[in-house]
Amino acid sequence: MTVHFIGAGPGAPDLITLRGRDLIAACPVCLYAGSLVPEALLQHCPPGARIVNTAPLSLDQIIAEIQTAHRAGQDIARLHSGDLSVWSAMGEQLRRLRALDIPYRITPGVPAFAASAAALGAELTLPGVAQSLVLTRTSGRASAMPEAETLENFAATQATLAIHLSVHVLEDVVARLTPAYGPECPVAIVWRASWPDQRLLRATLATVLDATQGERGRTALILVGPALGAQDFDESCLYAGDYDRRFRPVGTHPRFPEGTQ
Ligand SMILES: C[S@@+](CC[C@H](N)C(=O)[O-])C[C@H]1O[C@@H](n2cnc3c(N)ncnc32)[C@H](O)[C@@H]1O
Repeated sequence: MTVHFIGAGPGAPDLITLRGRDLIAACPVCLYAGSLVPEALLQHCPPGARIVNTAPLSLDQIIAEIQTAHRAGQDIARLHSGDLSVWSAMGEQLRRLRALDIPYRITPGVPAFAASAAALGAELTLPGVAQSLVLTRTSGRASAMPEAETLENFAATQATLAIHLSVHVLEDVVARLTPAYGPECPVAIVWRASWPDQRLLRATLATVLDATQGERGRTALILVGPALGAQDFDESCLYAGDYDRRFRPVGTHPRFPEGTQ
């Protein structure tokens, strides 16, 4: 018996890996985090599967569900939105499963930041402009931020920020980022990336509050940084005609002559 943690993707039911879909189809029990996981994914469950929305359950109750399936020798598909490596509450479940000696495996998913960048048609790391992406959030009722992980500290790097769980405090986000990025810095907000009601807003730190007209919604990603609006950036060396590389040796003395590894 194995608990399969599966990244369910950002919303569109076809943005799940083939492995994730096939695991759902093979597991007689499915526990899904109902607040963001698209219900359409549950259609992959086998007939007669036990399907439980864990949104109203406590961690103890979720673990009790897992233990029941474990005793019955039934595999579980455990679905969380996006990818499991960020803000999935998977860590605490894994810790309990290790203590109980219950086996688990993890199948990654498409995270919200990737779906948002795709919706915007944007690369978040552009040569010479930004080469780092910070996945972050602001403090919430359930999780305080560690002391050094402030928006001000991240802003000092000028990297691209993908700010989760924070659209309801947009005023605060703008006030804290403007000193380092400047008022002309591009901002994009993507609400419900990849869902049928996906919406996009492009603005600057100076204009974004007026542009949202007070609308906040719940599920949105705020992206901030010079890379979002940049047109004047270097092309990457990787595809430059004169760039000598392992897969495309160039010149009379290439570093990696053809036929070598
Ligand atoms: C609890 S976190 C889950 C993150 C998820 N594990 C991931 O990999 O993206 C929920 C937050 O992620 C962002 N988010 C999740 N799905 C989104 C979507 N489809 N569009 C925009 N933002 C989304 C929002 O900031 C939301 O408040």
